Order: sequence, then structure tokens, then C-alpha cells
Amino acid sequence: MPEFIPANVPNHVAIIMDGNGRWANARGLPRTMGHRKGVEAVRAAVKTAADLGIRYLTLFAFSSENWSRPEAEVTDLMGLLKAFIRRDLADLHRENVRIRVIGDRANLRGDILPLLIEAEETTSANTGITLVIAFNYGARDELARAMRRLATEVAAGRLRPDDITAERINATIDTAGIPDPDLILRTSGEERLSNFLLWQGAYSELLFIPELWPDFTRETFLAAIEKYASRERRFGGLSQPTLAVGS
Ligand code: FPP
Repeated sequence: MPEFIPANVPNHVAIIMDGNGRWANARGLPRTMGHRKGVEAVRAAVKTAADLGIRYLTLFAFSSENWSRPEAEVTDLMGLLKAFIRRDLADLHRENVRIRVIGDRANLRGDILPLLIEAEETTSANTGITLVIAFNYGARDELARAMRRLATEVAAGRLRPDDITAERINATIDTAGIPDPDLILRTSGEERLSNFLLWQGAYSELLFIPELWPDFTRETFLAAIEKYASRERRFGGLSQPTLAVGS
């Protein structure tokens, strides 16, 4: 059966990839196996998003709160992200994918930061889908870092308080230059934003689906896009008035 691709595909989809641990538990496997399977779902999601014409795909890979997980799990998640970049960067580059990383880069240990920077620099001129990896990311932390930067500018006399507008904040946060997400999707049935894109998501459609992240297939993604496409977005305004026939 041919795939149904709706006309109004979102420009930017942001995903909270949840449920790796539960996927593994349900099979009597260690949680790390869930994360491993999750990386396969990441590969498929990037391909599906690019095929659909989605221009930006943001994936919540590691939150600033995830450091509180057992050390072995943190090490495993870091290892998976590093392996993903080492193994997939050449393919992603060939497929014209541009990579951006959001989150706090200070105090990252080991070789993760150089790898993330390499991924961004290698792909910076690509014109296909932008894959935004949220790593060591927390929305409140992102906003606090931006506010500190703006306060420093004001204290130095380079900015006036009145210059701090929504546009200025947009240009100072980690996602500068990236349009707001049209759709924020969370897998695994949990219905929370968990400190993800709180500023950028002001008008995003929210979709919570029951599938666990490792089970997130092309079909699951298409079904989510179809649900998004059937919604009406008003951005605080009113519905478009229906034109009377003959008027
Ligand atoms: C949530 O599942 C998932 C994460 C905390 C990490 C997501 C990371 C990956 C899919 C792999 C690396 C990412 C990239 C971009 C290559 P959970 O562990 O909270 O699951 P649970 O709620 O069922 O315990």
C-alpha cells in the first residue's frame, strides 16, 4: 500500500525519546540494550523525517538531569552517542544532513565535546534536514545561561534592559537560528515535557504516543505526522472563518 504523506508536514519535529528502559525490562534485558535498540530507531527516524521533507528534527538524547542515573548507564549512553557520531557521521554528511548540538557544553569530560564539534563543523554547509541533538540539555539551564549572557551585556553597558526582547532571547538561547518546533512528540505514554524546549515550545502541538522509543518505526512516525496534520493551529488567534458558499 502506498504511504500517505499529508500536505502540511511540520517544518520542525522535536522528540522526547522515552521508554528504552521499559522496552528492555519487558524482555528481561539490561536497560542498556534498550538504549542500543533506541539508536536504531534514531537512524530510522532521521531517514523518515528527511524523506517526509521535515526540515528540522530535534532529538532529546541526554538531559542535564540524566547525570543522576547510575554511572554505568551514563557511561553507556555517552558511549552510544559517541559511537553513533563516529559510525554515522560520514553517512549523514553524504546524505546532506546538517548537525547542530544544543545543551550546556561547559565541563563535559573526555572526547565527547570534540566529537560533537566535529559533527557540527563537518556538516555545517549541508542543506538537507537539520538534525538537532539535545545533549546535556535542560530548558531551564538553557534559559539561565542565556540570561546570564544578556545580564553581562547589560552590566557592560552594551545592551539596555529594553533591548531584551523575545527576538533577542531567541537569538541568545542554544537554538538561535532554528525555528520553533511545530510538533513536540513524546513516546512511551508519559505526558510531560520534562524540561525540554520550554521557551521554543510555546505554540507547539504536543503529541504523546504509547509506543516505546525502540518500537518507533517509520509507520509510527507517519501516523504521528498524520495526527499533527489533522490539527488546527491558531497561535492565540481565532479559527479561519468558513467562507459561506457563494459569498
Ligand atoms: C529515555 O528512555 C531515553 C534516554 C534517556 C536516552 C535516549 C538516547 C538514545 C536513544 C541513544 C543515543 C542518542 C542518539 C541521538 C544517538 P528511558 O531510559 O528513560 O526509558 P524508561 O523511561 O523506560 O526507563
